Amino acid sequence: MAPTCINIKYKSSIVKPEDNAHFIARAKEGIVSHGPGYLQKLCEDLKAYNGKYNWVGVYIVAGDKLVLHSYAGDRTEHEQISIGDGLCSQAIVQNAIVNEADVHSNPTYLACFINTKSELVVPVRHGGKPVGEIDIDSDTRSAFHGEDERFISEIAELVAGAVSSLAK
Ligand code: SME
Repeated sequence: MAPTCINIKYKSSIVKPEDNAHFIARAKEGIVSHGPGYLQKLCEDLKAYNGKYNWVGVYIVAGDKLVLHSYAGDRTEHEQISIGDGLCSQAIVQNAIVNEADVHSNPTYLACFINTKSELVVPVRHGGKPVGEIDIDSDTRSAFHGEDERFISEIAELVAGAVSSLAK
């Protein structure tokens, strides 16, 4: 009998926890070797790592603004956000993760991309104080779960020193 050919499509949005551990180990090397110079690569690697991470950016606190330092995905008009506006500000003001399953249901949401349906914003803290954040937009509704929150929080801890050196 001829072997059955099964066309298995790799679903990059399904990741196992051990893959996260491997990513974190690589990220640690990146930040130790390159400091803030690693942040752009981090955005690119995160976007490539998981198909539901459609846009990944790092914003830095600069006075009363959030300034986009690095990103992977389409260009956004929100390169600077006044602290007070958007989900990005909520994460800073509340010093807490914002995990919005349905951005269009949230009046605070600042629209960037036509296809975005959910968003995860994780503060980067230095000495407990938010100095920046990792922002991820997804084209999938309810894309982010506890595992994503823990994973991105670990990355945020790794980059805290570098982000803090850029914050004003
Ligand atoms: N949606 C964000 C703005 C930044 S973009 O997602 C890149 C917000 O509501 O703050």
